[in-house]
This record gives sequence, structure tokens and C-alpha cells, in this order.
Amino acid sequence: MDRREFLKITGISLALSSNSLFSMEILEKEERQAKFKSKPGGAKMKVVKLQPKDHLKPKGLVGISDEQIEVHFEAHYKGYVAKYNEIQEKLASDFADRSKANQNYSEYRALKVEESFNYMGVVLHELYFENLVGGGKGSPSTELKKAIEEHFGSVDNCLNEIKATGIACRGWATLSYDMYNKMLFVNGFDAHNQYGFVYSVPLIVLDVYEHAYYVDQKNKRPPYIDAFFKNLNWDVINERFNRAVKA
Ligand SMILES: [Fe+2]
Repeated sequence: MDRREFLKITGISLALSSNSLFSMEILEKEERQAKFKSKPGGAKMKVVKLQPKDHLKPKGLVGISDEQIEVHFEAHYKGYVAKYNEIQEKLASDFADRSKANQNYSEYRALKVEESFNYMGVVLHELYFENLVGGGKGSPSTELKKAIEEHFGSVDNCLNEIKATGIACRGWATLSYDMYNKMLFVNGFDAHNQYGFVYSVPLIVLDVYEHAYYVDQKNKRPPYIDAFFKNLNWDVINERFNRAVKA
């Protein structure tokens, strides 16, 4: 006989005693707790869904065709949005039993890992499309140019560093501002959620997945990166830097 069964019996048998009310209160409390524990999922979690940002789709880029952008934006980027939303629904349901969370394998772990992959896929793609405009726009602000020259010697050196990182890595290369040590650095990612430095803000975001250039370049990444640099929207990049240094 477990404690709950004992209390149920004693609660009934002592119905006329002064202890009965106390016993039943304990029983009700334990039943409420048991009911809560029996809910394996996150049914009380708020589901926040993302919407694709269609206004970010660039057109008329130099060296990166509209056809390439179309498949990149509609299939790949929107695919991450859809999967992120699907994961949020599952996290808020009884699908993944938190009591069975396990670092080797568990459904809950799988959702948390892929939540990271898809969310970062959404954010990095939006930053990528946002920092592109046909033929490029503007130039590095005085403040950003000074910071780049302090860390890399020149803007060209900085872009060369981004290019080398983009060739060396499998997913992304960024020029980022490290808010922790107040400095610029180039960050390479092998996947959306792999090797990104925490506490940093991406300023220039370069997608080097093959899906970013296979329509135009097949497997040739360097000419795609050269084309990417011709379309940088420095107004957007300068604004990111301004916000990062003030944060
Ligand atoms: Fe991409």
C-alpha cells in the first residue's frame, strides 16, 4: 500500500474524526501533484511562431541571379521558418516527455538541438538577405572604418579575412562585433548553430552553404563570394555596428 492509498483509506475510515479533513487535504494535494507530473509535455508553454520576412528578398544583385535568390529565399530560408514553427508546436505539446530527457538520445533533446539549428537558420538568413542590395550601397562609416582598420589594417584586409573564412567553413562567415571584449572579429560557422561566438553581433553575414550559389556557380564558391562583396549594403552594416557598440 502506498502513501496515497493509505491516506485515501484513512481519510474515509476517519471520516468522523478530527483528523479526517487534514488527511483528505493531503490526499487532494498529492493528487494535484501527481496530475501535474503525469503531463509529460509543455502544454502550458506559449507558442511563438515566426513569419517569413518577404520584404527582405533582394532583387537585381550583381553576380547573384534572381533565380538563385528565389530558390534560396523561398525553399531554404522559408524551410527554416516552417521547421522552427513546427518544433515550437511540439515543444508545447505532450510530444516530448521532459521526464525522459537524456543527453545521449531523447525526443526532447532532438527538439532542442533542431530548435537551435532552425532558429539560427532563420536569423542568419534574414541578416544575410538584409545586408544585400543590387550593386551595393554606401561605404563603411567613419566609426566602423576606424574599427576595421584597427583590427585588420584595412577594409580590403577585412574582406579578405571574411573570404578566407567563408572558404574554410561550411556554413557562414561573419564580421562580428564582440560585445564582451569590445572588438571586431571574423566568425566562421560550419552550420547555423555551430561555432558561433556568444555575446557577439553579426555585422556582415555571408552564407557559404552551396545552396547560396549552386544555381549560378555550381560548386565554385570564390566567385560567389566576390559577387557577394559587390552587393553589400553598408547602410545596414553601419547601423548594426552603431547598435552593437551602444548595447
Ligand atoms: Fe542559405
